[in-house]
Amino acid sequence: MKARIIDVGKYVPNLSISNEDFTKIMDTNNEWIVQRTGISSRHFSEINTSEMAYQAVLNLLENTKFNKEDIEIIIVCTCTPDAYSPSVANLVKKKLKLSKDIPSFDINAACSGFIYGLKVVQGLIESGLYQNIILVGSENLSKLLNFDDRSTAVLFGDGAGAILVQGSNQGIIDTLIYNKDDINGAINIPNGINIETPFTNNQCSGPAHIQMKGQDVFKFATKVCINMLKEIVVKNNLTFNDIKCIIPHQANLRIIEYAIKMLGINKDKFVITLESLGNTSSASIPIALDSIKKELKKGDKLIFVAFGGGLTYGVSLLEW
Ligand code: UT7
Repeated sequence: MKARIIDVGKYVPNLSISNEDFTKIMDTNNEWIVQRTGISSRHFSEINTSEMAYQAVLNLLENTKFNKEDIEIIIVCTCTPDAYSPSVANLVKKKLKLSKDIPSFDINAACSGFIYGLKVVQGLIESGLYQNIILVGSENLSKLLNFDDRSTAVLFGDGAGAILVQGSNQGIIDTLIYNKDDINGAINIPNGINIETPFTNNQCSGPAHIQMKGQDVFKFATKVCINMLKEIVVKNNLTFNDIKCIIPHQANLRIIEYAIKMLGINKDKFVITLESLGNTSSASIPIALDSIKKELKKGDKLIFVAFGGGLTYGVSLLEW
């Protein structure tokens, strides 16, 4: 039994923030942002992560005509939850008003979250434990931006993507997930909480803002992206000619272009959505998948590849 993606849905907030909008609040310019990142605009949400996730699931259910009562488990990948508890997945389940007490939980692997989620879903379906799973990537990164830090504030956006995965005779072929120690603290989002008890000192880990050593992450991202793409095709006795399309995590166009150049793969195989969405972390791959789903035919082979905070990274090869 394999885990097959049946369909995908998405939620992208209406509010689009252009590079030009950023020039009004900080010392930046459209040329720098476009040349260094490929990003022209991004969407900022006025609803929270669970509501975006719920809207993506509603869009998915509408597309598939799948009866929500047949969902057996809900998993949300996010590093920007509404709260420590309940989880975003718990809140999505509550919003769906299901009649059964099905399990739901979150996964946090930062921008690699969706690949980690796929690995979990693959295991749950291949083992025969579940047959109908909803997997969501939902992120509200705009609320964690430091608008005094031009090197990170312009990169990220909000959104959510959701997939229905079912047991089938074809689907996910292989998923590889990894975690390299972030020794120098290349990406951090402190919780911002000033922990004070009657018995301990304050242990604040810093303001709840995205902090990133951009060039360190860039080097890590290009290296693992290239290595993982090579690893998954070689391990499965394929070449890039066998692959219909590759959906990379949408962090920076230069990372994607470097991988294209080093691997000698046709650029048309790569799905790129970051120009109008920015980096939506664990939501970036399912949102990009939604953008090309009408072009996919049964049996097409796809690769998803992601990297991010942690330092997590992962790759998944699947048949549509
Ligand atoms: O999803 C998580 C994974 N994250 C990533 O993959 C991000 C990986 N890293 C990157 O994408 C790039 O490193 C950045 C886009 C973050 C930065 O690009 P860079 O080419 O590495 O620039 P830099 O940090 O080396 O900065 C070069 C210059 C600096 O000015 P000086 O010191 O040379 O005068 C920065 O202050 O660019 C300046 N700069 C900006 N200028 C205008 C940084 N941000 C901006 C900005 N507008 N928004």
